[in-house]
Amino acid sequence: MSSDQFADALSLARGAGRVEIFTGAGMSAESGLDTFRDARTGLWTKVDPVAFASLDSWARDPEPMWAWYLWRASVCRGAEPNAGHRAIAEWAGWAARDGAHLGVTTQNIDDLHERGGARDVVHLHGSLFDYRCTICSRPWRGGVDYPAEPVARQAPPACPLCGNLIRPGVVWFGEPLPQDEWDRAEARMLAADLVVVVGTSGVVQPAAGLPALAKQFGARVLEISPEETELSRAADVSWRSTAAQGLPELVLGLTL
Ligand code: APR
Repeated sequence: MSSDQFADALSLARGAGRVEIFTGAGMSAESGLDTFRDARTGLWTKVDPVAFASLDSWARDPEPMWAWYLWRASVCRGAEPNAGHRAIAEWAGWAARDGAHLGVTTQNIDDLHERGGARDVVHLHGSLFDYRCTICSRPWRGGVDYPAEPVARQAPPACPLCGNLIRPGVVWFGEPLPQDEWDRAEARMLAADLVVVVGTSGVVQPAAGLPALAKQFGARVLEISPEETELSRAADVSWRSTAAQGLPELVLGLTL
């Protein structure tokens, strides 16, 4: 990481009144959760995204998918928020005290932003801990037995209202994003002075289009990423760092 990049990042962040942090799986990498497209460890190198993240696969054979999402939820419950999650919450705290605003728009389905102290989080792709009926969409509040080890198959419960299968409350490929969450994220991006992009390859639309939309409406864009991404070229500053190193440094720099 060059000190020039840090200085440039700090100058972007200083004085920003409305900040939106836009995150992806890399935000949770230093908490031990796999990203999707890392060439060696990415989730999509271990399972076929079409087979484990599509409505067609769910309709054909739901048990392997139910087992996989419960396993991911189990792993997430064992993970801890990292210094990057906590730095965002700290920044949000004193932004609020200064009459400013900092929100989080995430593509992640884990709950580490919330467990790291963030209060205003939009989940564009749903949550590992929300469940609903596949057909009537009634939310499922029943108990879920999280597996201690990965299992190949697990039968999802039946909806008490209509008898159809309970599914994970996440967005699968080809499904629309939750409209209310999208509307919240879009409104915050249009109002943002600064969008800080952390931990996303920027390849999945429509979420990946949000930083560019914010920029069209006057926001500056700071990317914190260990490598170049699809969003690097459009960023005002693309700082080679990581979530758990860069964000705490940035927040510390803002307090000095
Ligand atoms: N700090 C910051 N960024 C990191 C770190 C880290 N410690 N480690 C990895 N990264 C970066 C990688 O370089 C990569 O650019 O995080 C990014 C992760 O990219 P993806 O694995 O593609 O994850 P993401 O962008 O969140 O995927 C978007 O794709 O499969 C769908 O629904 C899924 O929400 C997901 C969407």
